[in-house]
Amino acid sequence: MCCNYSICVRVLVALLLCASVSIKAQLSTTFYLRTCPNLQHIVFDVVAKASFSDPRIGASLIRLHFHDCFVQGCDASILLNKTATIDSEQDAFANANSIRGLDVMNNIKSYVERFCPGTVSCADMLAMAAEVSSEIGGGPQWKVLLGRRDSLTANRILANQNIPAPSFTLDQLKASFQKQGLDPTTDLVALSGAHTIGRAHCRVFVNRLYNFNNTGNPDPTLDSDYLQTLQEICPQNGNGDSLTNLDVSTPNTLDNRYYSNLRSQRGLLQSDQELYSTPGADTISLVDTYSNSKIAFNQQFAQSMIKMGNIGVLTGDQGEIRSHCNFVNGS
Ligand code: HEM
Ligand SMILES: *[C@@H]1O[C@H](CO)[C@@H](O)[C@H](O)[C@H]1NC(C)=O
Ligand SMILES: *[C@@H]1O[C@H](CO)[C@@H](O)[C@H](O)[C@H]1NC(C)=O
Repeated sequence: MCCNYSICVRVLVALLLCASVSIKAQLSTTFYLRTCPNLQHIVFDVVAKASFSDPRIGASLIRLHFHDCFVQGCDASILLNKTATIDSEQDAFANANSIRGLDVMNNIKSYVERFCPGTVSCADMLAMAAEVSSEIGGGPQWKVLLGRRDSLTANRILANQNIPAPSFTLDQLKASFQKQGLDPTTDLVALSGAHTIGRAHCRVFVNRLYNFNNTGNPDPTLDSDYLQTLQEICPQNGNGDSLTNLDVSTPNTLDNRYYSNLRSQRGLLQSDQELYSTPGADTISLVDTYSNSKIAFNQQFAQSMIKMGNIGVLTGDQGEIRSHCNFVNGS
């Protein structure tokens, strides 16, 4: 009886060890603790310095991480430039003439390579730059999970499929988030709150201003004063290149005003206003919750950013640590 029991225990321990070896390596907050102890400081310093001259850069860096994660996972595929073998995601519809911050990422990388050569992935640097940008913008802080590896490929066609469009209806937005393993209600509403900072071009919302959905009228869910302001910024037959703030109340602060804007029909993108103005939607009560509580928003934004940062990561000996973020090693 006693012997059988101890054999059982040994077999169980052996099985558990086997299982833990075959389980995919997990990300951890202490991944670079010994191999790159300065990492957090370097990322913070470069982003803080860049924000000083460009208050929009934090928004651009948060968006870069999002557009990376939604296309074959958070693997820095978005940073790969066009070459003979790379069909760059930078040329996808949502990214062309729109994404920013590539130079800041290269700047971070060059400092990191000086202190800890060949150690830190570009994918991890994107996740850290997003967190630091939240902190600097007045949003929540969180412990970034690390240990991602960089992809050997990019996929422009997948970028066109996976990055949600500003003209999406709520059902389409939900499907897009669900496809990534994110919650189509909580993660969708909390992460859309990133539109509390940054800018958008007229071309991405002008469809709401004059002839929405072929009705011959503006989007009825747009506040009339706000509509008038937007029509002045974006003339009907303009080139669509002008920029305006995504958050009309506090454009450079990562706060919860985005949600009160939605409640007063002042969401800039159709995809923003859909969260509150779709009749009967389960997203409405969450907009109310985050609008009423910065604490509730902060808590969920941090949690959802961590969850987004886990999408399809490469770990262990998958992929590589790129020495230049814009190119696969040896290319
Ligand atoms: C829910 C679906 C989403 C849609 C349809 C969407 C769409 C857009 C569009 C069209 C722009 C303006 C781009 C331009 O005019 O150049 C934009 C900007 C931005 N997006 Fe989103 N987005 C979504 C979700 C997110 C998420 C999940 C995040 C981050 C967690 C995010 C962060 C940002 C930021 C920070 C900006 C401003 C960037 C800057 O100023 O450089 N967005 N988004
Ligand atoms: C990569 O492409 C971007 C434009 O998409 C450009 O600004 C950048 O200079 C390129 N990087 C290198 C190292 O060539
Ligand atoms: C646009 O119009 C179509 C039919 O005319 C309708 O089914 C759809 O819900 C409308 N979209 C929006 C966002 O109002």
